[in-house]
Amino acid sequence: MTDKFYLTTPIYYVNARPHIGTTYTTVVADVIARRKRALGVDTFFLTGTDEHGQKIERSAERAGCSPQAFTDEVSAQFRALWDRMGLTYDDFIRTTEPRHKRGVQKLFALLKERGYIYKGSYTGQYCVYDEAYVDVPPGAPCPECGRPTETINEENYFFKLSAFERPLLEFYEAHPEFIRPETRRNEVVSFVRAGLKDLSISRTSFKWGIPVPGDEKHVIYVWMDALANYITALGWGSDDESKFKTYWPADLHIVGKEITRFHCVYWPAFLMAAGLPLPKSVVAHGWLLFEESKMSKSRGNIVRAETILEVLGADALRYFLLREVVFGQDGSFSFDALVQRYNSDLANGYGNLVSRTLTMIGKYFDGVVPEPAGLQAASLATEIPETVVAVEQQFEALDFSRALERLWTIVAATDGYLTASAPWKQSESLTDEQQRALRATVLYTAAEAIRIVTALVYPVLPDAAAKVWAQLGLGDIQKADLKQVAWGGLKPGTKLGELGPVFPRAEKDAIQKMKEIEEKNAPAAPAEDKVVKAEKPAEEAAAAEHTAVAPKQAEPRHEAGGRGMPAAPAVPATGTVVNPVQEAAAALSGSGDKITIDDFTKVELRVAQIKVAERVPKADKLLRLEVDLGYEQRQILAGIAEAYAPESLVGRKIVIVANLAPRKLRGLESNGMLLAASLEGGKPVLASFLEDVEIGARLK
Ligand code: MSP
Repeated sequence: MTDKFYLTTPIYYVNARPHIGTTYTTVVADVIARRKRALGVDTFFLTGTDEHGQKIERSAERAGCSPQAFTDEVSAQFRALWDRMGLTYDDFIRTTEPRHKRGVQKLFALLKERGYIYKGSYTGQYCVYDEAYVDVPPGAPCPECGRPTETINEENYFFKLSAFERPLLEFYEAHPEFIRPETRRNEVVSFVRAGLKDLSISRTSFKWGIPVPGDEKHVIYVWMDALANYITALGWGSDDESKFKTYWPADLHIVGKEITRFHCVYWPAFLMAAGLPLPKSVVAHGWLLFEESKMSKSRGNIVRAETILEVLGADALRYFLLREVVFGQDGSFSFDALVQRYNSDLANGYGNLVSRTLTMIGKYFDGVVPEPAGLQAASLATEIPETVVAVEQQFEALDFSRALERLWTIVAATDGYLTASAPWKQSESLTDEQQRALRATVLYTAAEAIRIVTALVYPVLPDAAAKVWAQLGLGDIQKADLKQVAWGGLKPGTKLGELGPVFPRAEKDAIQKMKEIEEKNAPAAPAEDKVVKAEKPAEEAAAAEHTAVAPKQAEPRHEAGGRGMPAAPAVPATGTVVNPVQEAAAALSGSGDKITIDDFTKVELRVAQIKVAERVPKADKLLRLEVDLGYEQRQILAGIAEAYAPESLVGRKIVIVANLAPRKLRGLESNGMLLAASLEGGKPVLASFLEDVEIGARLK
């Protein structure tokens, strides 16, 4: 076993406030950190926020405040939540801190000095949402997230990533444990085998980033900036590198599966180029899904950790995340599943076992752990040590779900043993002495089983375990030596502490309560909205909205719907089939080419995501789309088949007129209409957003 352990979470983008998806990664890291510390390992657990880049700059702009004020606010929300949850990070790094900026500039300068950075120019597509260069033709959406990409044509600095193709492959070969699980490893290896191109690592078209040393019109590419946090937080590049010397290389980077490439290709290549040791392992977990899709701000399907903390407490959320989601795979979240797990495993399971055992020790032995007598609880005494070994191995392998499942077999077995032995019954065939001996053995055995479960579950249920440990009369669990959980460690004669409920049963309306709290905070109020409210008086915000929806110029510009919408007027893209916006406008107005704001608000424009796109047989121009509006799915027919291949549309977010009366086209019902710019003699261009927008959001 190594005597130090350095583990990290990804640093979170501050364009969205924390939700239980981001909480998941941080909780997993906290569980690992707590377990390592409990085993006596010198552990350093790092988390933080990723605050630079075009995405954040735009979010701040939209929120109407400076990027610094914006990032200060959202970063503080992350930190406050982690603190409220009692997460035991050792450092929280912000990429806007001087210590980080200094280190990143040093890394850039070092790579340049070592001949791995050169100047060139980049023309290609960029996905602002993923902050990634993508290899697709202009106009095509991002293959990763389906959002529109932007063409950039800039003078950039390049990193010689191509030089690391072979060294990386050799490294993966020599260190199979570097990427886990296997599926991610295979993806990364095939990506590198397919050939690596040099990577653009600076941008000039925006300002919110760390300037390239000596050429300040460039800012350093946000992923190079962000990845470096893992060493700048340890003081690399500062006057005091002692932490770096102690803890680097990282033992474990925990990441979501979508960012393995950055961590397993770019990051080791940067480190190789800098002549620094590489991390020992990167483990990718799956996504937390809610209503079948990845929980994220843009989908508007976020559940906040605070809601669960308020109703069931932090331990309930931790247990659910670790038990219900198989680490490495996607897992689903639902309030029903959460409450069911809580009641079955925590309230009726562990909590009830603790309560009935300790109450009986109080009643029959004045609250003092009895000395077990001659009778043996043979099967438990042999089963438990075997289970302990298995659980420890499963924790070590980060197989949390199975570890907890196995650990709970002790809870169930002990519960069954108590029920079968019925120590509360006075048996007529036993003398008082024998009865007491039986009770002593049964209750000692149950209390010892509880002690063992508690010691092992402490990293997952720190609050509950601390309470139970104190109730067992064992004092402060944080000071306990949890390395050895050998059977028989509980000393008879130990005076129990004060008893109290550990996991009270969830109230009947717990689910309802959580849903109401979420609704109160809906629609998924993104972090930036909060900043706007804080900084803009209500009238000003209302006036801004009014200007946006009632423009002076004849061409409607959908500023409120999102910057980056094409400047050309949005018109329906239904080809020759229908043109109902014009119809609607004519019907609404009746006063020349001007309509009133009331007329406009009758048109319900909403963001929808294309889920299915296919050609309509014998109709050259027509595509059949199934779109998701968040609250419903519907079918729309659109005359865009000559401009868009159906497969390029899936995942793309578009604008639709949602309250259009249904029509039949070629025997198929079209329920709404999408918007596109109609270019003179050209093909329609779909209206879309550069920013991240929620499905179902209304344009006004
Ligand atoms: N800033 C980058 C990471 C830079 S690390 C040098 C980033 N940030 S992020 O905020 O978009 O996502 C960070 C991590 O949050 C993901 O890798 C993942 O670990 C976690 N998750 C975000 N949404 C999630 C779910 N719905 N489910 C599980 N994890 C999720 O990428």
